Amino acid sequence: MDMGNLTILEMDTAEPIRLLTAAAAIEAMPKLAAGRLPLMAFVDAETERVLQESSVLLGRSAIMRGGIAKAIDYLNEQRSPHVLLVDISGVDLPLSQIHILADVCEPGTRVIAIGDHNDVGLYRDLQEAGVSNYIVKPLTRELLTKAITPKSNSGDMGRAALKLGKMVSFVGARGGVGTTTLAANLAWHLANRQSRRVALVDLDLQNGGCGLLFNINPTPGLRDALANPLRLDSLLLDRIMTQVGERLFVLSGEEPLHENVQFTVSAVDTLFSVLRSQFHYVIVDVPRLPLPPYRRALEIADRRVIVVDQTMHSMRDAVRLKRMFGDTGAAEQAEHRSMFVVNRVGETGHHGLSLKEVNNVLQVKPTSLIPFLPSLVTPAAHHATIAASKRGKFANAVGTLALELSGRNKRRGWWWRAEK
Ligand SMILES: Nc1ncnc2c1ncn2[C@@H]1O[C@H](COP(=O)(O)OP(=O)(O)OP(=O)(O)O)[C@@H](O)[C@H]1O
Ligand SMILES: [Mg+2]
Repeated sequence: MDMGNLTILEMDTAEPIRLLTAAAAIEAMPKLAAGRLPLMAFVDAETERVLQESSVLLGRSAIMRGGIAKAIDYLNEQRSPHVLLVDISGVDLPLSQIHILADVCEPGTRVIAIGDHNDVGLYRDLQEAGVSNYIVKPLTRELLTKAITPKSNSGDMGRAALKLGKMVSFVGARGGVGTTTLAANLAWHLANRQSRRVALVDLDLQNGGCGLLFNINPTPGLRDALANPLRLDSLLLDRIMTQVGERLFVLSGEEPLHENVQFTVSAVDTLFSVLRSQFHYVIVDVPRLPLPPYRRALEIADRRVIVVDQTMHSMRDAVRLKRMFGDTGAAEQAEHRSMFVVNRVGETGHHGLSLKEVNNVLQVKPTSLIPFLPSLVTPAAHHATIAASKRGKFANAVGTLALELSGRNKRRGWWWRAEK
């Protein structure tokens, strides 16, 4: 992927102490993926010149020649900066490009657009789409500095600053329906097939199965963090999460069975608010026990996935779960946060409920039907390989669920908006 000219500035003071300029391919650049840069700019030569002359480049910053298309390509693969400057001049459909950019950017990125149209309508649309500032060329050092320097109590906090990752909580209508399997496979799919940064949290600190599915060595990190919510911040989470591949981060535990492992509702709130500011998706495997912290993890989720199978037991408790969250009636389903997934489809043959009967009981069509495939899923669990990594029916069904959750099959950039 040729990204054109690249300039990396490393500045401890207003003056550059190191300046690298490379016309080479992006692969040749120093690895930025390790962390988030304070500022990145995808701009033309003139803006680059003004940027270099201004005093806004604190810490490590990167300037790349090009515009929003290049930003989209780049950020699809790499970590997003805290402040992102993108040139949208000459772009035919700037708004739709901004929505695509929103889709690839991490939560917490403040986006500043630079353009050549002095148009109030465009300005409003960009703000509506989450852009925190729009600067019209010709640029000056003062304009840039003003746009980039955050103003504490102005209206320019921008919706982008409110943008959070999407929390999706999984719960089984009954035990053993495959809730953990689906949560783990969906998390893997979002991280590896949709290039999202994903946190997978197993709230069953004693018997949870997420760690096993990824062959993760258990640590007391999550339990400690939940026991001390005041210390819970992104730095602590960075230390206690186990990274699986490039973009998936798992939080799980294997606490002794004889201990009374408890945490509060407010610890749950803190954990997920920190995670949502760091990840595109936070996928949670929630135990079925009706305890307040577990219920909280289901209540605050953007989406709840209730996993069922084709049994009466499942149906009875799926309906009760739906009712508990106040989600009633088929017509409202689209507006509501609960969705159903039928797992192990076909397992019961003629002895279980048909899919038509399942639809009738739930009064809604399930979001995804996951086939019963023991020859794939059982060995995958046994060897800690992930079933969805193998292309086929199972991966497709997980993909359908992921599409529904990401909203990509409806409109792009759904989660970019601060709305819930
Ligand atoms: N679609 C599937 N096809 C075949 N086997 C499956 C499928 N989904 C899950 N399984 C198997 O079913 C068993 C239970 O799965 P899993 O542990 O994910 O369920 P669970 O609902 O999380 O259980 P628990 O209630 O104990 O938390 C596992 O052995 C898993 O490999
Ligand atoms: Mg489970």
